[in-house]
Order: sequence, then structure tokens, then C-alpha cells
Amino acid sequence: MAESKRTDEIQGEIVHVYDGIEEADNQLPRWWLATFFLTIVFGIGYWFAYHEYQLAPLPVEEYADAHAAQESSVVEVSEEELAALVASPEAVDAGREIFTTTCVACHGARAQGDIGPNLTDHHWIHGGSSVEIHSTIRDGVLTAGMPAWGPSLGPTAVQHVAAFVLSIRDTEVEGKAPEGELYTPARSDTEEPMAPDAQTPEPSAPDAQTPEQPTPEPAIPGPETPSP
Ligand code: HEC
Repeated sequence: MAESKRTDEIQGEIVHVYDGIEEADNQLPRWWLATFFLTIVFGIGYWFAYHEYQLAPLPVEEYADAHAAQESSVVEVSEEELAALVASPEAVDAGREIFTTTCVACHGARAQGDIGPNLTDHHWIHGGSSVEIHSTIRDGVLTAGMPAWGPSLGPTAVQHVAAFVLSIRDTEVEGKAPEGELYTPARSDTEEPMAPDAQTPEPSAPDAQTPEQPTPEPAIPGPETPSP
């Protein structure tokens, strides 16, 4: 120690000198102190909010929840289940409503195609079987501008809107030119929903969709078994 203290013109009074390094002892600026104390208050608040009282989920939990929600939106549906939905007027009506609010912007009011392809022709880019159509709607085609509807609509709504799309499949509404591959249904697919439940001639009743087709589509080749 010993050395006489000097006063620096910028730092003020030098209180310590170690190996030529001088240290002054000044008041910290108010703004600095305020920030410092605020972080302490915030830290305590955060601790109580997140760890003590669990008022909000931790980021890890939030991630796990989002992950689970994503997983649960990926619900597999069998051909039979979809066929049953197509045969149910309530499901198809619910699907039509969703289609009107959610899908017409890209696929057109009569599903005749616009930004997205015509959904009433015999050609499908991602497969024309009921299971394939359902998964295209659920998972989307993100690279091509078709959103994934599973996470936003949920499994039930996706199934309903798939049922609606299936109910108007092959109705040939004039519109966008066919895209993709010609899909010829395997006998277990399309035909079934029409034939077994013969209570209503047009289970799908696509009101506005097909003005040019007055009677039930005779176009679809298939077993004309009236009822079991
Ligand atoms: C933002 C525009 C957009 C919206 C909204 C949209 N689609 Fe699409 N959809 C597309 C595009 C673009 C494609 C073509 C994807 C491709 O070329 O691979 C497509 C493809 C499809 C296909 C597959 C067609 C095929 O040929 O394989 C189905 C089925 C379909 N959409 C159903 C729906 C349904 C149902 C909804 C509403 C829930 C919907 N889309 C809403 C843009 C949209």
C-alpha cells in the first residue's frame, strides 16, 4: 500500500493501485442500477410464475404439447370409414360447409379448379383413392401451395371435407383442365358408397355443383346392385 492517492481527472479519486492498475470507486449510474434491479425482480417473478406456481407451461412443455397436437392430427382413416362418411348426408353436408369456407378460394366454388386442381375430374396428382385424397387434404402439398389441413381443422373436419370431395369425385364439372394421372378406382373403392345404401338415389346431392347433370351419374361404371 502506502502510495499517496492521486485523483484522476476522468475517473476521480484512485482508491486502489495493484501492479500499476488503478481502480476508482464511483457511484454506478442510475440507469445501470435500475436495469440491474429490474432483472432481479424479473428473475424472481419468472421463477415463481413458471417454476413455483406453473402459471404458464415451460418452453419444453409447450414444445411437447405442440408436438402431441401435431401427432394427433395425423389420424389414419380406412377406406371403409371414408365410404361410411360419404354415405352419411350429415358428414357430407358438414364437409360441404367446410369446403365453402376453406377450399373454394383455391379450388373454385364448384371444385372446378382455380389455383388448385379440378377435384371433379378423373385425374389426380396425388392419387384418387379415398385414402389418398384424405391424406392429401390432411398433410397438404406444402411445396405446391396446398396447405396441410390436419393441424388447423382437426381430424373430424378433415374427414368430413374429404367425404365431401369424395362425393363430388368424378362428377366432371367443367373447369380447369385435368392434371395428374387418370385414376381408375379399384372395385372396392368408389362404387361401394353408392351401391350398398340405396335409400337415397343421390347421397351426396351436389346442389349447385352439377347443373349439366340432372340425374344420378350413370357415367360411373360399376356393379348396379340395388341393395343387399
Ligand atoms: C391456398 C390454396 C389452396 C387451398 C385453400 C386449398 N387447396 Fe387443395 N390444392 C391446392 C393446390 C395448389 C393443389 C395442387 C398441389 C400439387 O400440384 O401438387 C391442391 C391439391 C388438392 C388435392 C389433390 C388433388 C390431386 O389432384 O391430387 C385435394 C384433394 C385438395 N387440394 C383438397 C383441398 C381441400 C379439401 C381444401 C380445403 C380444406 C383445399 N384443398 C384447400 C391449393 C389449395
